[in-house]
Amino acid sequence: MKFSSTSLTLLFLPLLSLASPVAVTPKDVSETPEDALFTRKVEYCQIVNVSSTVNCRAGPGTGYASKGSIPNGVSFHFSCYKRGECVNGNCTWDYAVDYQCYINGYYTSSQCTIANLGPC
Ligand SMILES: *[C@@H]1O[C@H](CO)[C@@H](O)[C@H](O)[C@H]1NC(C)=O
Ligand SMILES: *[C@@H]1O[C@H](CO)[C@@H](O)[C@H](O)[C@H]1NC(C)=O
Repeated sequence: MKFSSTSLTLLFLPLLSLASPVAVTPKDVSETPEDALFTRKVEYCQIVNVSSTVNCRAGPGTGYASKGSIPNGVSFHFSCYKRGECVNGNCTWDYAVDYQCYINGYYTSSQCTIANLGPC
């Protein structure tokens, strides 16, 4: 019994500290998803110019961990870009929002332009 009351207290402390900042702005929280849809354009782009697969990286460079390999011709959503390591002269990394990783702009189809995506 003493053991379970101790673990309850430990669970409550982080919950209470999280509760206060969330409760202060209930309106902001509900407006955020709509704002994000209007200010951030999401493009549906295809993976091109890859002989087999391209790695989707945790950050804008080949030194970042691969979060998965994507076959040529597959399409999914990209929401923004970051500058990073250059691949075949392209230093732009497009953010694959569905997988939360980056693919160099050299491998994404023409809908994924810098102007269409905007910076992350
Ligand atoms: C990349 O792929 C596109 C679409 O298949 C093609 O039009 C373009 O010429 C390719 N670019 C390079 C550099 O291979
Ligand atoms: C690099 O990729 C970005 C995003 O996909 C694209 O807008 C840009 O035109 C590309 N630049 C070059 C030099 O291929």
